[in-house]
Amino acid sequence: MPSLAAKFNSILWEQDRVRIGDTEIALHDFTAATPSTDACLLYKTKFLMDQYARFFSQREPHAFRNILEVGIWGYGSVVLWNELLRPEKYVAIDINKSTRNSGFESYVGRNEIAHKVKTLWEFDQGDKTKLQNLCDAEFPNGLDLVIDDGSHLYRYTRPCLEALLPRLNEGGLYIIEDWAWEHWKSYDSLLHPWATEESLTKLVHELVCTAGSANELIQDIYVCKGFVAIQRGGLRVPSVNGFKLDTYSQRRRFKFLRSAIFPFLPSILGVKRQLKKLSSWG
Ligand SMILES: C[S@@+](CC[C@H](N)C(=O)[O-])C[C@H]1O[C@@H](n2cnc3c(N)ncnc32)[C@H](O)[C@@H]1O
Repeated sequence: MPSLAAKFNSILWEQDRVRIGDTEIALHDFTAATPSTDACLLYKTKFLMDQYARFFSQREPHAFRNILEVGIWGYGSVVLWNELLRPEKYVAIDINKSTRNSGFESYVGRNEIAHKVKTLWEFDQGDKTKLQNLCDAEFPNGLDLVIDDGSHLYRYTRPCLEALLPRLNEGGLYIIEDWAWEHWKSYDSLLHPWATEESLTKLVHELVCTAGSANELIQDIYVCKGFVAIQRGGLRVPSVNGFKLDTYSQRRRFKFLRSAIFPFLPSILGVKRQLKKLSSWG
C-alpha cells in the first residue's frame, strides 16, 4: 500500500472537483444553498486538506481499519476518506433525513463496498446511547479513527466524544474538524445563528488539560487551524454511559486557599513581626 504522504499527494485539485485515482468528487460551491444529488459533494477546501496531508503523512497507511465519521452531508468525505485510508469498516452518521445520491450509489456499486461502508441518517451525534449501540453492533474490535465534522457545537460534540473516546483503540485518533470557528471573523456577529452557542474552544481547552494530566487517557494532542486530533493512550475506561472527561483532567488543589491567603501572607507575617517588636520593648 502506498504511503499516506503519497496518497494525499495524489489528490488532483481542479476548480470544481478533486480527483483521486479514477474517482471524482465535486467540490461544494460555498455560495450555493443546497447540495446537488447526482454527484458526491465534498465540503472541504484545499487549505484544510493540506493540513490533513501534513498530519497524516507521518502515519502508517494501514492503521485505520475501523472508522466512524460524523457529518455525511453530500457523501464527498465518505468517498474521500475511503479512497485515502482504505478501511475495513466505515460508518458515517448524520442528523438529517436521508438524501439519495446517485454518484455515491454508483461509487459503492463500482467498488463493491456495500458490505463495509454504511451511511446512517437521522442519527444525532449527541445521543450517547445510540452511539454505544452502534459501536457494539459495528465495531466489536474498537475504533481506529473518528472524524467529527458534524454539528461543531459544544452541546453535541462533547457527549459524542464521551461516548466514543472509550471505544478508541490505543494509538487511535479522534479528530474534530473546524473547532476554531469562534476565532473566525464571519462568526463574530450577534446575528449569527450560533451567537449564543458554546463553541468548541472550551472543549479543546478541556482536552489540552486532559492530555497534560497524569494519566494515559490521551497520549498526544495536535491542534491546527482546521482540526484538532487526539491520540488515544492506553488507559482503559468504562465504555458505557458513565465516562466523563472531567474525571480524567487533573488540577492542583487548594486553589481557593492559594488565592485567598497567600497574597496576604507577607502582611500577616509583617503584623506578627511588629507585635513581637512591641512586646520585646515592653
Ligand atoms: C459540514 S457538513 C459535513 C461535510 C462532510 N463531512 C464533507 O466534508 O463533505 C456537517 C453535517 O453534519 C450534520 N450534523 C449537524 N448536527 C449534527 C448532529 N447533532 N448529529 C449528527 N450530524 C449532524 C449536518 O446535517 C451536516 O450534514
